[in-house]
Amino acid sequence: MSNTKLNDIKESALKDFQKAANSTELYNFKVQYLGKSGALTEAMKLMASLPKEEKPLFGKLVNEVKAELETVYAEAESNLKNKEIESQMLSEKIDLTLSASTTERGHEHPIYKVTHEIFSIMARLGYALRTGPMIEKDYYNFEALNIPKNHPARDMQDTFFVDETHVLRTHTSPIQIHSLENEKPPLRIIGTGPVFRCDSDISHLPNFHQIEGMCVDEKVSMADLKGTISFFVREFFGPGLKTRFRPSFFPFTEPSAEVDCSCPICKGSGCSLCKQSGWIEIGGCGLINPKVFEFAKVEYPKWQGFAFGFGVERMAIIKYGVDDIRHFPKNDVRFLKQF
Ligand code: PHE
Repeated sequence: MSNTKLNDIKESALKDFQKAANSTELYNFKVQYLGKSGALTEAMKLMASLPKEEKPLFGKLVNEVKAELETVYAEAESNLKNKEIESQMLSEKIDLTLSASTTERGHEHPIYKVTHEIFSIMARLGYALRTGPMIEKDYYNFEALNIPKNHPARDMQDTFFVDETHVLRTHTSPIQIHSLENEKPPLRIIGTGPVFRCDSDISHLPNFHQIEGMCVDEKVSMADLKGTISFFVREFFGPGLKTRFRPSFFPFTEPSAEVDCSCPICKGSGCSLCKQSGWIEIGGCGLINPKVFEFAKVEYPKWQGFAFGFGVERMAIIKYGVDDIRHFPKNDVRFLKQF
């Protein structure tokens, strides 16, 4: 009699577990059969009224039914849960036309592009690459370039001082001194890198790049300087651009000149970039001052030379017609991609 009852409970539970429409309903059935006051627990209570010899067998049967029901429940629960997730996913609207987010690729910076172009032009003239430190001794940035302490020429380059004897180099000309000290003439070198000046407007950055060239040989004249720079400028910008040399002053060259190119934006009629002059200055040049050779202990006039220093951003502006020098340090890929 009690075995039949047990079997009835089992059959009915299996049916209910099967027909449950969702996991909540299934759980309620579980409570109904397997819970603390569920049908199975109630059935156990029958055991008290059974003859002693039937008790162990009945107990065993109850445990078997319980184990079976628990297994069936677990299976039914996982099936229902999967179905529920599935239907939830189907009901959610996924817009398959939305494009996935992509990582923006970088682009070579125009300053590096221009620098490499300049190197390859100068390499054809036999110039070798040299570098120098960005934090420079006052001696190399000024003193050895014939700019003594308290000399008004220091005012030409508003300087970031690191301490009393070190500065963020204001130009790449110290590379000339390092080369003269460490190498033996004849020399043809080209150097580049960031330089720093306390200066900032539409055509000036506090941190910009220069390219420095130096030639030291037995007989070097202003004609060699002009010829080299004219060749270099023509190769770099193409034949359409005009250049001019203006007499100027640098303590480390004598005579000195400044090199201008015609403004690519206004083509000479005057605009804010060229300060209405129609020309953009790209840098300075001149024959190396004998005082510099003296500082670097190079015999003069056995060895003579010329040097030049150009602003790389300026050259990029002229070549590509960029309207504001401040685009360069921003690193906006939309700008960089145009080169
Ligand atoms: N160093 C100078 C400047 O930054 C440029 C220059 C270089 C001039 C070499 C003459 C010779 O203004």
